[in-house]
This record gives sequence, structure tokens and C-alpha cells, in this order.
Amino acid sequence: MAGKNEKPGLSVGLAGVVIAESTISLVDGEAGKLYYRGYRIEDLAQNCSFEEVTYLLLYEKLPNRKELDAFVNELRRRRTLPDHIVKMMKSYAKHMNTMEALRTTVSALAAGDPDASKVSYEDNLQNGIGLIAKFPTIVAYHHRLKQGKSVVQPNSKLGFAANFLYMLTGKVPDEMSVRAMDMDFVLHAEHSFNASTFGVRVTVSTLSDMHSALTTGVGILKGPLHGGAAQEVMHMLREIKTPKNARKYVMDALAKHTLIMGYGHRVYKVYDPRARVLKKTATDLSRIKHNMKYMQIADILEDVMSREKNIYPNVDFYSSIVYHALGLPLELDTPIFAIARSSGWVAHALAQYKNNKLIRPLDRYVGPIDLKFVPIDMRP
Ligand code: ACO
Repeated sequence: MAGKNEKPGLSVGLAGVVIAESTISLVDGEAGKLYYRGYRIEDLAQNCSFEEVTYLLLYEKLPNRKELDAFVNELRRRRTLPDHIVKMMKSYAKHMNTMEALRTTVSALAAGDPDASKVSYEDNLQNGIGLIAKFPTIVAYHHRLKQGKSVVQPNSKLGFAANFLYMLTGKVPDEMSVRAMDMDFVLHAEHSFNASTFGVRVTVSTLSDMHSALTTGVGILKGPLHGGAAQEVMHMLREIKTPKNARKYVMDALAKHTLIMGYGHRVYKVYDPRARVLKKTATDLSRIKHNMKYMQIADILEDVMSREKNIYPNVDFYSSIVYHALGLPLELDTPIFAIARSSGWVAHALAQYKNNKLIRPLDRYVGPIDLKFVPIDMRP
């Protein structure tokens, strides 16, 4: 901290500023490593379901079989949306995209819930779990309502990832799709003080409630420099169209200082470890679908970006190809990210409540002072 007469340093975009200690995740940007509660992301992605990882994030330990079963059941039990919420969702289905609908519905879920504004640790935990359980239902319901279809009620026999895919189509998904979806949820669940998580913690630091905190998170994640990037990646891949156009496309974009979406990261200066895991899934799925076009374009993009800019793909790049191979609509790329990240947001919200200090940074005022006040009728 700056001394009495010293001016605090300026860090535009809070880059490089450490504002809290955390035991939730470690993002090692130099080595390209990511750990949730000390466990390597590769191990969690290979071996755990999203429910298991959510338990780890919220309860600070991996569950045993009995604890996991109870947690899975609790999430299943709390998936359904109250009728008045579904009715309300119908009223804006045609007028909002899915992230807007998610933001609005998360906030609206406080209506008629007597516990929504309670903020004890246990209330926050319970409210958080209830919201994590409902995120997929909101996304799937909105997606169907927007197309004029009736909603598909949650299927209590299916796990978190399988049920999400089921609610989108009404069909029980195949094992490979469920595994890919589950892995994608695990990889997106948590990532330290990223912009949306920081927003969640700022909201919580005022001792506001969990619904407000997660509404903030969705609003921030929506932006194209954050969760909105996956969708932009697929737009770009579609624009590139074929591998033979890829090299020229990137070189032209770089010459014009246009961003290549799904590339670069504030913390990772090497390959994003999540992108490495998803690249393998994207390759496997593309092979099964006999459509390697986007993977071939991806190889060329990686080659040019690493040589020209020393910049590597981030998690959004390969998740966008995974979603495409799973036949998921482009519109859902960012909402899927939000479904997964809800667990990290709740873990951070709980940590903030536990050891709270109001988050209130300073700015450096560079405007004029002591201007002569001019009454309104005398102003030019
Ligand atoms: N394409 C081309 N050039 C890039 C890219 C990119 N995707 N990312 C960074 N650069 C360049 C910048 O133009 C800049 O070049 P310069 O020094 O010649 O001006 C240099 O790399 C440093 O970039 P910054 O923008 O200063 O890095 P910052 O840490 O602020 O940005 C960010 C990180 C916002 C993610 C950036 O890389 C970006 O906009 N990427 C594209 C959007 C994207 O994929 N977002 C998803 C992020 S991951 C997530 O939210 C899950």
C-alpha cells in the first residue's frame, strides 16, 4: 500500500493487481497450468463430473460417494422453475437473446422466494446451489420458447450435463455427447478473478445477496471480450470458410489490428491448459462427425498466431468447435459458459462473504478542478 504522501500506483484494467488471497483456483499463466482447490484441471476433466467439481469448489474437498450422491440428488431436486417464472419467461422469449433472458430470469427467481435476500453463510450456500441447479433449465427453456416450442421438463434420471442436452431437444443424448458436455462444464467452472467473478465478488462485498451476485456475473460474462468470445470464434470460422483461406485471413486481420477471437488471455501467456484438453475433444468429435474442416483451419490459425504474435488459443476457441460438433446452436455458446461458471461464482461469493471487505478501488482524477460555476440561464 502507498505511504501517506505517496500516490497509489495506477493499473489500468487492474492488470497485475492482487486483491485477495484465495484457495479456490490457481491460474499459473507462465506455466500454462490450472488447479481447482489444488487438483490439476486435466485430472478433474478426465475423471470428474461437473457435479463432483462443483462440490469440490463449494465444499473445499472432493466428495466421497455418499456425499456426491446426496449432492447430485439435491441438484436434481432443485432444477425445476416455478410456474410464475416460466410464465414470465414466455413473455420475453421472443424479445431477448439467451444471455439477456438468463440475466433477467436469475434476478426474477428472487420473486416469491422468501429466502432469496437472506445472506447468512448457509443461506448463501443454499441459494447458490439452487441457482446452479436452475441455470441449465433457464437456458434450455428460453432456447425452446424463443423458437415457439414447448419446454422440456427436467429428467430426474439424468445427470447435470445429460439433462441439459435432453432439455434442449427432448431426446436422451448419447454417451459421447454427454461426456464432452460434462468435460466442457468442468473446464469452464472456475478461473480465479476473471472479470465476471470479480463482478460477483464486488456485488457480494456490499453484503448484497446471491441472486444479485449471479445476475452481475451473467451480465459481465456476456461481453465479447469475456464469455462472448466463443460465439465470435464460430462467426470467424464460418467467415474463413475453408482451410485454404485461413492463412491470408489471419495475416490480413493482424495487419489491420483486428482481434482473432478465441486467442490471447490476460493471464495465460502460453497455451491455455483448458484449450489443450478441449482441442483433443474437438478433434475426436470432428473425426466422428467426418468434418475436420474447422480443425484444419484451427491448425493454420495456431501456426500463424504463435509465429507472428506468440499468442495461443484460449478456452473459447476449441469449445466453440466442440459445441458445433455437438450440434448445439451458436446462440448457446456463452450461456453454456454461464451454466458452468455459476459454480465458480458461487464458490467465490461464499469466500467473499466469509472474509468480507468492501471492494472499492480508487481512480486517478485527471479532470479540471475549481471551475467557475455558471448559473444555468447564463451558460452558452
Ligand atoms: N488477436 C490479435 N492480437 C491480439 C489478440 C488477439 N486475439 N489478443 C491480444 N492481441 C495483441 C494485442 O493487440 C496487443 O498487441 P500490441 O501490443 O501490438 O498492441 C497484445 O496482443 C497484448 O494484448 P492486450 O489486449 O493488451 O492483452 P489483454 O491482456 O488486455 O487482453 C484479451 C486479453 C482481452 C483476452 C485479448 O487477448 C482479446 O481481446 N482476445 C480476443 C477475445 C477473446 O478471445 N476473449 C476470451 C478471453 S478468455 C475468456 O474470457 C474465457
